[in-house]
Amino acid sequence: MQEKLDGILKEAKEQLNDAVVLSDVEEIRVRFLGKKGEITSILKSMGKLEPEERKKLGMTANTARAEIETLIEEKKKFFKDKAKDLKLMNETIDVTEPGKEMKLGSKHPITVTIEEISDIFKSMGFSITEGPEVESVFYNFDALNAEPNHPARDMTDTFYITDDILLRTQTSPVQIRTLEKQKPPVMVMAPGRCFRCDTPDATHSPMFHQIEGLVVDEGITMGDLRGVLDKFAKEMFGSEVKTKFRPHHFPFTEPSAEMDISCFKCGGKGCRVCKGSGWIEVLGCGMIHPNVLKVGGIDTEKYTGFAFGVGVERIAMLKYNIDDIRLMYENDMRFIEQFK
Ligand code: DAH
Repeated sequence: MQEKLDGILKEAKEQLNDAVVLSDVEEIRVRFLGKKGEITSILKSMGKLEPEERKKLGMTANTARAEIETLIEEKKKFFKDKAKDLKLMNETIDVTEPGKEMKLGSKHPITVTIEEISDIFKSMGFSITEGPEVESVFYNFDALNAEPNHPARDMTDTFYITDDILLRTQTSPVQIRTLEKQKPPVMVMAPGRCFRCDTPDATHSPMFHQIEGLVVDEGITMGDLRGVLDKFAKEMFGSEVKTKFRPHHFPFTEPSAEMDISCFKCGGKGCRVCKGSGWIEVLGCGMIHPNVLKVGGIDTEKYTGFAFGVGVERIAMLKYNIDDIRLMYENDMRFIEQFK
């Protein structure tokens, strides 16, 4: 028996020595220490022995089992450590390797300009709203007091989708949509895309952007409109800029005006930017026509208001000295990247 045990122990040691992977160690454990393992069967068979001999052999067998157990644990740890080392080695990062260059994007000049204009009006208490680009004839024309045969309604000027649905030609329909859901005091701006059947050239594009402004409250006057727009012009183009209103006509305002700013380039003396006149036209505005307020459900005995519409591309072109509107839609990175 003793000899047999020695043989088993020797065999176990040899096998553990030859083990190449973790699963080999498990097989060895089963072979020697498992339920039907070699050491286990020796321990089981000892019942037949004399007590004296059983005690002696029992001790040796247990020592052998303990020794094999220890060797197995050591071997298991060895394989696990090896696997871990290998994993760490494969995951090594060379911190001296040059990194991948990440290209940072930049905002489009139209976005930059909308944000700049919005920030100025926000600082005066305006909040930002939006309306749909696909609009009804009602909101785009009828509700804005445009006569049934107003030239802007022509197929040649407006993209119609059906007889009643069109691509909005201006952001002004947002005035009506706002008044329908918000009661005075109202002080909102609505930036967004507009569409007109224009042939592209240096100053025209069939898709362009406007920002609509709308203020309705008790006692609003043309003086408030002057003040707000003068502040806007000075913030946008410089504190030395002067503004003036020229009479104009829009169906949805009465009286209506266009606002000019003194040329920020030449200070009013006359140059290429202001085409020699010293003044630059920047936006349309006026006191909201009572017919428009009524469609919006506003009591015209109690409330008055003003509105204005700014062409975003026009402001961007002036401010950033861009001489062709088409540059803004070609998305040539060399152009776009200049507005970081
Ligand atoms: N919607 C006008 C246009 O596209 C611009 C405009 C002028 C808007 C006067 C206004 C305004 O709100 O009061 O030409």
